Amino acid sequence: MVRHRSRKAAPARACEFESRSLRQMKNAGNDKISITAEFVSIMRSGDDIKNLYFVSPKGFRLYDATKMFIPEKKLREIFNWRLRLSAVIDEKISTAKPEQIIDFGSGYSLRGFNLCTDDNSLNYVDADLSSVTSRKKKILEKMCLEKNFAFPKNYHIVSLNVLGDNLFEEIGGVIDANKNTLIIAEGLTSYFSKDEFASFINNTRSLLKNFRHAEFYSHENISQPKGILYKILRYVFVSILTRSRGRRGFDNIEEFKKYLGGLGAKFALDTSKDGFLFYSLFKD
Ligand SMILES: C[S@@+](CC[C@H](N)C(=O)[O-])C[C@H]1O[C@@H](n2cnc3c(N)ncnc32)[C@H](O)[C@@H]1O
Repeated sequence: MVRHRSRKAAPARACEFESRSLRQMKNAGNDKISITAEFVSIMRSGDDIKNLYFVSPKGFRLYDATKMFIPEKKLREIFNWRLRLSAVIDEKISTAKPEQIIDFGSGYSLRGFNLCTDDNSLNYVDADLSSVTSRKKKILEKMCLEKNFAFPKNYHIVSLNVLGDNLFEEIGGVIDANKNTLIIAEGLTSYFSKDEFASFINNTRSLLKNFRHAEFYSHENISQPKGILYKILRYVFVSILTRSRGRRGFDNIEEFKKYLGGLGAKFALDTSKDGFLFYSLFKD
């Protein structure tokens, strides 16, 4: 079910409206990121055809246009790293065995829907910007109707901005703070500027404090190992489509360690793959 912010008393609402508009302006570039989520859906459709429900005619057109100057085989090779990213996070979920998962910037990922369909004791929260969540909810409802699937009751879709909102307040209605919780962010943070990344990490640390036991798991770019074609794709998809330049990432693991240490975060570094370093944040 899509949940929106609960209504507040009038004076607070006026103030909230002002700060929300400012936040939305600041995050305007990230709002366009949904087109990259459609490209990821095309990549994932090889393993799970349901993903094609999330690709709009515009998404298909842009994908076809891209194939005109980059052969599809090469394109798939380049995007393969993206699928491997998902595989590492899937692996983390299966070893951590959380009772509850919060997926920040979940985009059009079907992970939550599929996991909840398979296991009705898991509580799963998909969280993304409202432009993405409202479309996702409509598409999933259509898919359930057409394919005769039940919409899992333990699967929740929440609209939020991970940069500006009080995250616990946003998801409080659909989570249990006593449950063993894994918070994940896949493919989300590389679009953030340096300042946005710092505020995301701080928001996440504040959120973690509310749980009895919770861990945040994500990945960070450590280098740019993917060559010139990757750089072109990044320019086309990220700079033009999302109108955001993103961050360059960290040069090496030490630099990232120093960064988190400097923020005062409690963290652990995990596996490093294809230029991505996976890491966890814990309650301070
Ligand atoms: C590349 S997509 C990744 C989607 C998904 N995690 C996956 O692996 O398929 C990045 C997602 O982050 C979302 N996003 C970007 N900025 C955000 C913000 N400030 N708050 C919440 N979600 C955000 C975008 O809307 C988009 O759906």
